[in-house]
Amino acid sequence: MAAFRTAAVIGASTGIGAEMVRQLAAEGVRVAAVSRRLPELEALQAACGGPEKVLVYAHDVKNYDEAPGLFDRIVADLGGLDCLIYNAGIMPRVEESEYNFGKDREIIEVNLLGAMAWFNPAGAFMEARRAGTLVGISSVAGDRGRRGNPAYHTSKAALTTYLEALRNRLFRYGVHVVTVKPGPVSTAMTEGLKLPLIIPVEEAARGAIALAKGGTGEGYVPIAWKPIMLTIRHVPSVIFRRTNI
Ligand SMILES: NC(=O)c1ccc[n+]([C@@H]2O[C@H](COP(=O)([O-])OP(=O)(O)OC[C@H]3O[C@@H](n4cnc5c(N)ncnc54)[C@H](OP(=O)(O)O)[C@@H]3O)[C@@H](O)[C@H]2O)c1
Repeated sequence: MAAFRTAAVIGASTGIGAEMVRQLAAEGVRVAAVSRRLPELEALQAACGGPEKVLVYAHDVKNYDEAPGLFDRIVADLGGLDCLIYNAGIMPRVEESEYNFGKDREIIEVNLLGAMAWFNPAGAFMEARRAGTLVGISSVAGDRGRRGNPAYHTSKAALTTYLEALRNRLFRYGVHVVTVKPGPVSTAMTEGLKLPLIIPVEEAARGAIALAKGGTGEGYVPIAWKPIMLTIRHVPSVIFRRTNI
Protein backbone atom coordinates (compact mmCIF):
# COMPACT_ATOMS: atom_id res chain seq x y z
CA MET A 1 0.00 0.00 0.00
CA ALA A 2 1.37 3.38 -1.00
CA ALA A 3 1.45 6.12 1.65
CA PHE A 4 1.04 9.47 -0.03
CA ARG A 5 2.59 12.61 1.48
CA THR A 6 1.31 14.82 -1.33
CA ALA A 7 -1.47 14.56 -3.90
CA ALA A 8 -3.20 16.67 -6.55
CA VAL A 9 -6.87 16.29 -7.45
CA ILE A 10 -7.87 17.78 -10.81
CA GLY A 11 -11.62 18.47 -10.72
CA ALA A 12 -11.88 19.04 -6.99
CA SER A 13 -14.58 21.61 -6.29
CA THR A 14 -17.59 19.29 -5.79
CA GLY A 15 -18.69 15.67 -5.72
CA ILE A 16 -16.22 12.78 -5.66
CA GLY A 17 -13.21 15.08 -6.20
CA ALA A 18 -14.02 17.36 -3.26
CA GLU A 19 -14.66 14.33 -1.04
CA MET A 20 -11.32 12.77 -2.04
CA VAL A 21 -9.62 16.05 -1.07
CA ARG A 22 -11.42 15.97 2.32
CA GLN A 23 -10.50 12.36 3.03
CA LEU A 24 -6.87 12.72 1.91
CA ALA A 25 -6.41 15.92 3.94
CA ALA A 26 -7.96 14.23 6.99
CA GLU A 27 -5.27 11.51 6.69
CA GLY A 28 -2.52 14.15 6.72
CA VAL A 29 -1.84 14.20 2.96
CA ARG A 30 -1.04 17.72 1.65
CA VAL A 31 -3.38 18.20 -1.30
CA ALA A 32 -3.53 20.52 -4.32
CA ALA A 33 -7.17 21.01 -5.34
CA VAL A 34 -7.71 22.19 -8.92
CA SER A 35 -10.83 23.21 -10.84
CA ARG A 36 -12.67 26.25 -12.23
CA ARG A 37 -14.80 27.41 -9.28
CA LEU A 38 -12.48 29.18 -6.82
CA PRO A 39 -15.17 30.00 -4.19
CA GLU A 40 -16.03 26.28 -3.86
CA LEU A 41 -12.32 25.41 -3.66
CA GLU A 42 -11.74 28.06 -0.98
CA ALA A 43 -14.68 26.78 1.07
CA LEU A 44 -13.24 23.26 0.77
CA GLN A 45 -9.82 24.55 1.83
CA ALA A 46 -11.32 26.23 4.91
CA ALA A 47 -13.31 23.08 5.82
CA CYS A 48 -10.12 20.99 5.57
CA GLY A 49 -8.06 23.23 7.90
CA GLY A 50 -6.62 25.91 5.61
CA PRO A 51 -3.63 26.22 3.26
CA GLU A 52 -1.38 24.05 5.45
CA LYS A 53 -3.61 21.15 4.44
CA VAL A 54 -5.06 22.10 1.03
CA LEU A 55 -3.76 24.45 -1.66
CA VAL A 56 -6.24 25.64 -4.28
CA TYR A 57 -5.78 26.56 -7.94
CA ALA A 58 -8.38 27.90 -10.39
CA HIS A 59 -7.99 26.18 -13.75
CA ASP A 60 -10.17 25.10 -16.66
CA VAL A 61 -8.89 21.73 -17.94
CA LYS A 62 -9.79 22.86 -21.47
CA ASN A 63 -6.91 25.35 -21.23
CA TYR A 64 -4.52 22.53 -22.12
CA ASP A 65 -1.48 24.79 -22.49
CA GLU A 66 -1.74 25.82 -18.84
CA ALA A 67 -1.40 22.26 -17.51
CA PRO A 68 2.41 21.77 -17.69
CA GLY A 69 3.18 25.11 -16.01
CA LEU A 70 0.52 24.62 -13.34
CA PHE A 71 1.78 21.06 -12.76
CA ASP A 72 5.31 22.41 -12.11
CA ARG A 73 3.91 25.08 -9.79
CA ILE A 74 1.98 22.49 -7.78
CA VAL A 75 5.07 20.27 -7.44
CA ALA A 76 7.08 23.28 -6.24
CA ASP A 77 4.35 24.42 -3.80
CA LEU A 78 3.85 20.92 -2.34
CA GLY A 79 7.54 20.03 -2.37
CA GLY A 80 6.97 16.97 -4.60
CA LEU A 81 4.02 14.94 -5.83
CA ASP A 82 3.26 11.34 -4.91
CA CYS A 83 -0.18 11.00 -6.53
CA LEU A 84 -2.13 12.81 -9.23
CA ILE A 85 -5.85 12.07 -9.56
CA TYR A 86 -7.65 13.23 -12.72
CA ASN A 87 -11.30 13.40 -11.72
CA ALA A 88 -12.67 16.29 -13.83
CA GLY A 89 -15.66 15.18 -15.84
CA ILE A 90 -18.97 16.32 -17.30
CA MET A 91 -22.06 14.42 -18.38
CA PRO A 92 -24.53 16.88 -19.92
CA ARG A 93 -28.01 15.51 -20.45
CA VAL A 94 -28.47 14.25 -24.02
CA GLU A 95 -31.91 13.37 -25.38
CA GLU A 96 -32.20 10.06 -27.17
CA SER A 97 -32.78 11.69 -30.55
CA GLU A 98 -30.30 14.50 -29.95
CA TYR A 99 -27.24 14.66 -32.17
CA ASN A 100 -25.26 17.58 -30.78
CA PHE A 101 -21.62 17.95 -31.74
CA GLY A 102 -21.12 20.90 -29.36
CA LYS A 103 -21.97 18.74 -26.33
CA ASP A 104 -20.01 15.77 -27.69
CA ARG A 105 -16.89 17.86 -28.22
CA GLU A 106 -17.00 19.37 -24.73
CA ILE A 107 -17.38 15.92 -23.15
CA ILE A 108 -14.27 14.69 -24.99
CA GLU A 109 -12.37 17.91 -24.22
CA VAL A 110 -12.97 17.71 -20.46
CA ASN A 111 -13.13 13.96 -19.81
CA LEU A 112 -10.34 12.85 -22.16
CA LEU A 113 -8.15 15.62 -23.59
CA GLY A 114 -7.88 17.39 -20.23
CA ALA A 115 -6.72 14.10 -18.71
CA MET A 116 -4.01 13.73 -21.36
CA ALA A 117 -2.89 17.34 -20.83
CA TRP A 118 -2.30 16.53 -17.12
CA PHE A 119 -1.03 12.96 -17.38
CA ASN A 120 1.72 13.94 -19.83
CA PRO A 121 3.68 16.23 -17.48
CA ALA A 122 2.79 14.02 -14.49
CA GLY A 123 3.93 10.85 -16.31
CA ALA A 124 7.24 12.44 -17.34
CA PHE A 125 7.81 13.69 -13.78
CA MET A 126 7.07 10.30 -12.21
CA GLU A 127 9.06 8.34 -14.81
CA ALA A 128 12.10 10.52 -14.05
CA ARG A 129 11.60 10.00 -10.29
CA ARG A 130 10.96 6.25 -10.75
CA ALA A 131 8.01 6.58 -8.35
CA GLY A 132 4.46 7.86 -8.06
CA THR A 133 0.83 7.03 -8.73
CA LEU A 134 -1.42 8.33 -11.50
CA VAL A 135 -5.16 7.82 -11.05
CA GLY A 136 -7.96 8.37 -13.56
CA ILE A 137 -11.60 8.43 -12.52
CA SER A 138 -13.20 6.59 -15.41
CA SER A 139 -16.58 4.84 -15.12
CA VAL A 140 -18.55 1.65 -15.64
CA ALA A 141 -19.95 3.72 -18.53
CA GLY A 142 -16.70 3.10 -20.43
CA ASP A 143 -17.23 -0.67 -20.48
CA ARG A 144 -20.00 -0.61 -23.06
CA GLY A 145 -21.43 1.84 -25.59
CA ARG A 146 -24.98 2.48 -24.39
CA ARG A 147 -27.54 4.44 -26.36
CA GLY A 148 -28.19 7.25 -23.86
CA ASN A 149 -25.06 9.38 -24.14
CA PRO A 150 -22.66 8.10 -26.83
CA ALA A 151 -19.95 10.74 -26.26
CA TYR A 152 -19.84 10.17 -22.48
CA HIS A 153 -19.40 6.41 -22.95
CA THR A 154 -16.74 7.06 -25.59
CA SER A 155 -14.85 9.49 -23.33
CA LYS A 156 -14.68 6.95 -20.50
CA ALA A 157 -13.81 4.00 -22.77
CA ALA A 158 -11.00 6.07 -24.29
CA LEU A 159 -9.81 7.20 -20.86
CA THR A 160 -9.73 3.58 -19.65
CA THR A 161 -7.68 2.50 -22.69
CA TYR A 162 -5.35 5.50 -22.40
CA LEU A 163 -4.71 4.67 -18.73
CA GLU A 164 -4.02 1.02 -19.60
CA ALA A 165 -1.42 2.14 -22.15
CA LEU A 166 0.18 4.52 -19.63
CA ARG A 167 0.28 1.68 -17.08
CA ASN A 168 2.02 -0.58 -19.60
CA ARG A 169 4.50 2.20 -20.38
CA LEU A 170 5.27 3.22 -16.79
CA PHE A 171 5.26 -0.02 -14.80
CA ARG A 172 8.94 -0.65 -15.63
CA TYR A 173 9.77 2.62 -13.86
CA GLY A 174 7.88 1.72 -10.70
CA VAL A 175 5.06 4.17 -11.45
CA HIS A 176 1.52 2.95 -10.72
CA VAL A 177 -1.38 3.86 -13.00
CA VAL A 178 -4.81 3.17 -11.54
CA THR A 179 -8.17 3.22 -13.31
CA VAL A 180 -11.16 3.73 -11.02
CA LYS A 181 -14.53 2.72 -12.45
CA PRO A 182 -17.34 3.90 -10.19
CA GLY A 183 -20.93 2.89 -10.74
CA PRO A 184 -23.55 5.58 -10.08
CA VAL A 185 -22.69 8.01 -7.29
CA SER A 186 -24.99 10.56 -5.70
CA THR A 187 -23.54 13.91 -6.88
CA ALA A 188 -24.61 16.97 -8.90
CA MET A 189 -23.81 14.95 -12.05
CA THR A 190 -26.53 12.38 -11.33
CA GLU A 191 -29.10 14.67 -9.69
CA GLY A 192 -32.64 13.76 -10.77
CA LEU A 193 -31.58 10.55 -12.51
CA LYS A 194 -32.95 7.16 -11.47
CA LEU A 195 -29.85 4.94 -11.37
CA PRO A 196 -29.29 1.46 -9.95
CA LEU A 197 -27.08 0.73 -6.93
CA ILE A 198 -26.31 4.42 -6.39
CA ILE A 199 -23.82 5.04 -3.57
CA PRO A 200 -23.01 8.09 -1.43
CA VAL A 201 -20.06 10.26 -2.42
CA GLU A 202 -18.14 9.33 0.77
CA GLU A 203 -18.17 5.65 -0.22
CA ALA A 204 -17.07 6.45 -3.78
CA ALA A 205 -14.16 8.61 -2.60
CA ARG A 206 -13.09 6.01 -0.02
CA GLY A 207 -13.12 3.29 -2.67
CA ALA A 208 -11.16 5.41 -5.15
CA ILE A 209 -8.49 6.29 -2.57
CA ALA A 210 -8.16 2.62 -1.54
CA LEU A 211 -7.61 1.63 -5.18
CA ALA A 212 -5.07 4.47 -5.60
CA LYS A 213 -3.11 3.28 -2.56
CA GLY A 214 -3.31 -0.35 -3.73
CA GLY A 215 -1.73 0.74 -7.01
CA THR A 216 -2.98 -2.21 -9.01
CA GLY A 217 -4.57 -1.70 -12.41
CA GLU A 218 -8.31 -1.26 -12.68
CA GLY A 219 -10.96 -1.45 -10.01
CA TYR A 220 -14.71 -0.98 -9.65
CA VAL A 221 -16.38 1.07 -6.90
CA PRO A 222 -18.15 -0.66 -5.30
CA ILE A 223 -16.66 -4.06 -6.15
CA ALA A 224 -20.20 -5.40 -6.84
CA TRP A 225 -19.89 -3.80 -10.30
CA LYS A 226 -17.09 -6.19 -11.26
CA PRO A 227 -19.26 -9.29 -11.88
CA ILE A 228 -22.10 -7.13 -13.21
CA MET A 229 -19.92 -5.49 -15.83
CA LEU A 230 -18.21 -8.78 -16.65
CA THR A 231 -21.64 -10.11 -17.55
CA ILE A 232 -22.77 -6.96 -19.39
CA ARG A 233 -19.53 -6.82 -21.40
CA HIS A 234 -20.26 -10.32 -22.69
CA VAL A 235 -23.82 -9.68 -23.85
CA PRO A 236 -23.67 -10.04 -27.66
CA SER A 237 -24.19 -6.79 -29.55
CA VAL A 238 -27.18 -8.22 -31.39
CA ILE A 239 -28.96 -8.63 -28.03
CA PHE A 240 -27.44 -5.58 -26.30
CA ARG A 241 -28.88 -3.16 -28.87
CA ARG A 242 -32.40 -4.36 -28.06
CA THR A 243 -31.99 -3.68 -24.32
CA ASN A 244 -31.24 -0.61 -22.23
CA ILE A 245 -28.85 -2.13 -19.71
N1 LIG B 1 -21.55 10.60 -10.30
C1 LIG B 1 -21.46 9.42 -10.89
O1 LIG B 1 -22.42 8.60 -10.89
C2 LIG B 1 -20.18 8.99 -11.55
C3 LIG B 1 -20.03 7.63 -11.89
C4 LIG B 1 -18.85 7.22 -12.52
C5 LIG B 1 -17.85 8.14 -12.77
N2 LIG B 1 -18.03 9.46 -12.44
C6 LIG B 1 -16.96 10.39 -12.75
O2 LIG B 1 -16.49 10.96 -11.54
C7 LIG B 1 -15.93 12.26 -11.80
C8 LIG B 1 -16.51 13.26 -10.81
O3 LIG B 1 -17.91 13.39 -11.06
P1 LIG B 1 -18.95 13.84 -9.93
O4 LIG B 1 -20.05 12.88 -10.00
O5 LIG B 1 -18.26 14.08 -8.64
O6 LIG B 1 -19.49 15.20 -10.58
P2 LIG B 1 -19.44 16.72 -10.14
O7 LIG B 1 -19.84 16.91 -8.73
O8 LIG B 1 -20.18 17.45 -11.21
O9 LIG B 1 -17.88 17.08 -10.22
C9 LIG B 1 -17.21 17.30 -11.41
C10 LIG B 1 -15.89 17.98 -11.11
O10 LIG B 1 -15.21 18.18 -12.37
C11 LIG B 1 -14.79 19.53 -12.42
N3 LIG B 1 -14.79 20.02 -13.81
C12 LIG B 1 -15.77 19.92 -14.74
N4 LIG B 1 -15.42 20.60 -15.84
C13 LIG B 1 -14.19 21.12 -15.60
C14 LIG B 1 -13.31 21.94 -16.34
N5 LIG B 1 -13.61 22.36 -17.58
N6 LIG B 1 -12.13 22.32 -15.78
C15 LIG B 1 -11.81 21.91 -14.52
N7 LIG B 1 -12.60 21.12 -13.78
C16 LIG B 1 -13.77 20.75 -14.31
C17 LIG B 1 -15.80 20.31 -11.60
O11 LIG B 1 -15.21 21.51 -11.11
P3 LIG B 1 -15.56 22.99 -11.66
O12 LIG B 1 -16.96 22.98 -12.18
O13 LIG B 1 -15.35 23.86 -10.46
O14 LIG B 1 -14.53 23.27 -12.72
C18 LIG B 1 -16.07 19.34 -10.45
O15 LIG B 1 -15.12 19.53 -9.44
C19 LIG B 1 -16.26 12.55 -13.27
O16 LIG B 1 -15.13 12.28 -14.06
C20 LIG B 1 -17.38 11.58 -13.59
O17 LIG B 1 -17.44 11.29 -14.96
C21 LIG B 1 -19.16 9.89 -11.82
